[in-house]
Amino acid sequence: MHPFYFGTNVKMHQTHADTQRFVRVVAEQSSPVPERQLFLMPPFTSLAGLPELAAESGMWIGAQNMHDADEGEFTGEIAPGMLRALGVEMVLLGHAERRRHFGETDGLLNRKVRAAFAHGMRPLLCVGEDAQERGFGIAHETVARQLKVALHGIQADHTARLIVAYEPVWSIGTSGRPALVEEVLPVLEAIRHTLGELFGARAKEIALLYGGSVNESNCADYAALPVLDGLFVGRAVRQPEDFVHILNLAYQARAKSR
Ligand code: PGA
Repeated sequence: MHPFYFGTNVKMHQTHADTQRFVRVVAEQSSPVPERQLFLMPPFTSLAGLPELAAESGMWIGAQNMHDADEGEFTGEIAPGMLRALGVEMVLLGHAERRRHFGETDGLLNRKVRAAFAHGMRPLLCVGEDAQERGFGIAHETVARQLKVALHGIQADHTARLIVAYEPVWSIGTSGRPALVEEVLPVLEAIRHTLGELFGARAKEIALLYGGSVNESNCADYAALPVLDGLFVGRAVRQPEDFVHILNLAYQARAKSR
């Protein structure tokens, strides 16, 4: 039912020119396939004109964050409508780095999720436990709490446009370590369970992705998991050639497992 999602959070890397090159190389080296949906989330400064360029390769463009208000006295912030006016399709909400360095709470994320839907964008909501929460044995409770608050009051008719990414905090970035499939599978199943509690039968319309130190050697293992609909990759695909390479490895593993 879902396409295979494959995308990247560029974080605070890439100039506007770098992003344009990234999109061009991906378009040259991969052809659009209806069964897969690529996406790229570059910095705000790369967004102007990008959705048009990326449309050639069928790639969605997403922002890495946004404010929840329509407009106002919020110096330095970006409003949802500003993104939508540029043709931005998705918005990343609740990434662990936003939670940790910028104090984003689940309550704030609930307002941002609502704002994303109100402006016709697809929220990609990240959840995941940190090392301490895993150590205490409360990974399942942590992701359930994050989902229940951030998705509170969201109508079930939005589910087809909601994307959730499980990103264990201890596995993200240069200080993270790649997770074993058996470490993440129970949490992925717990996420599916919570989404079922929240949305009933319509929960299956929600795409579930995995992220955290996904790389050339582990992408196939994650991609083959039936519970997942795609991968959300960071530093391993910072170069467009690597993006295409890991996409192909993951997509083949996915196709083989079906
Ligand atoms: P990583 O980043 O693949 O470099 O761990 C993933 C993420 O933070 O979304």
